[in-house]
Amino acid sequence: MPFLEIEFPLEARDAEAVEAALLAAGAASISFFDRGDEPILEPRPGEVRLWSDTLVRALFDGTSDTDAWLCRLSALLGPELTESATLRHIADRAWEREWLRDWKALRFGPRLWVCPTSAAAPADPNAIVVRLDPGLAFGTGTHPTTALCLEALAKLELHGKSVLDFGCGSGILAIAALKLGAAHACCADIDPQALTATRQNAHANDVAARLETLDAQQPLPTAGCVLANILAGPLIEAHERLAAACTSGGDLLLSGILVAQQETVLAAYRASFDIVGVAQREDWCCVHGRRRPYGGGC
Ligand SMILES: C[S@@+](CC[C@H](N)C(=O)[O-])C[C@H]1O[C@@H](n2cnc3c(N)ncnc32)[C@H](O)[C@@H]1O
Repeated sequence: MPFLEIEFPLEARDAEAVEAALLAAGAASISFFDRGDEPILEPRPGEVRLWSDTLVRALFDGTSDTDAWLCRLSALLGPELTESATLRHIADRAWEREWLRDWKALRFGPRLWVCPTSAAAPADPNAIVVRLDPGLAFGTGTHPTTALCLEALAKLELHGKSVLDFGCGSGILAIAALKLGAAHACCADIDPQALTATRQNAHANDVAARLETLDAQQPLPTAGCVLANILAGPLIEAHERLAAACTSGGDLLLSGILVAQQETVLAAYRASFDIVGVAQREDWCCVHGRRRPYGGGC
């Protein structure tokens, strides 16, 4: 279906009123974007936070009566809105296939690959392949925070170990760990959709029998390798639970930490972990820690 896109700055308007007006005028989709450079990194579950300079973009059926819905929008939101708006025709495309153009196989370390389900297997006969498509939850390997964890995971000795993936999203880290030789993985998240996506991806990768999912608020099992890519704030909040979950001498990978937040996160984890290394990609870093023996002091 062809679309007509309307774009305008939100300015002082109320976002919910704008959304309601666009829907009443027949918009098929509405998105809000940052017009500046103001990342929103740690919204609370269910919290919708917008930027101080927000751009609104809505799509209308390209065959609909443009004058009629523009007139309706002007009536609902004021005539100055349509004066500051830009319109753009968007030709019909196979939208459900569009993401495939940018979604390519990615390699982490010498052998670990994350490949779209439709892509050919890598030529390397020793490749370890996680099959995954973008879906219900975060985690395809394209984001620096996930990429840092996958690169670190590829270097760990995981054979026979149990893994806790705290903030599992798509389950990408746990699935990669299982394919790299881990015996069992427990995947925890506060978002039920993430747990569903993780189970689906585990099935698609033939590791479902070795993976279980858990509401992250439930007591955590112990594991020899603990992974958590969830941003600095929740990482600091969870430090005692993750320290209790990691077995003595076990590995800890923490990601989702902006370089500027690294010291605060390290300060919380140094009480229980020796810091083995910190890797950085773009503005993000990933901490590798090793659990100090219980009762071994600081
Ligand atoms: C950045 S995604 C990481 C997904 C995946 N592990 C990866 O590395 O790509 C963070 C995930 O953590 C979950 N999350 C956020 N806060 C959490 C918390 N306090 N406890 C557990 N999970 C949390 C989110 O729902 C989301 O699925």
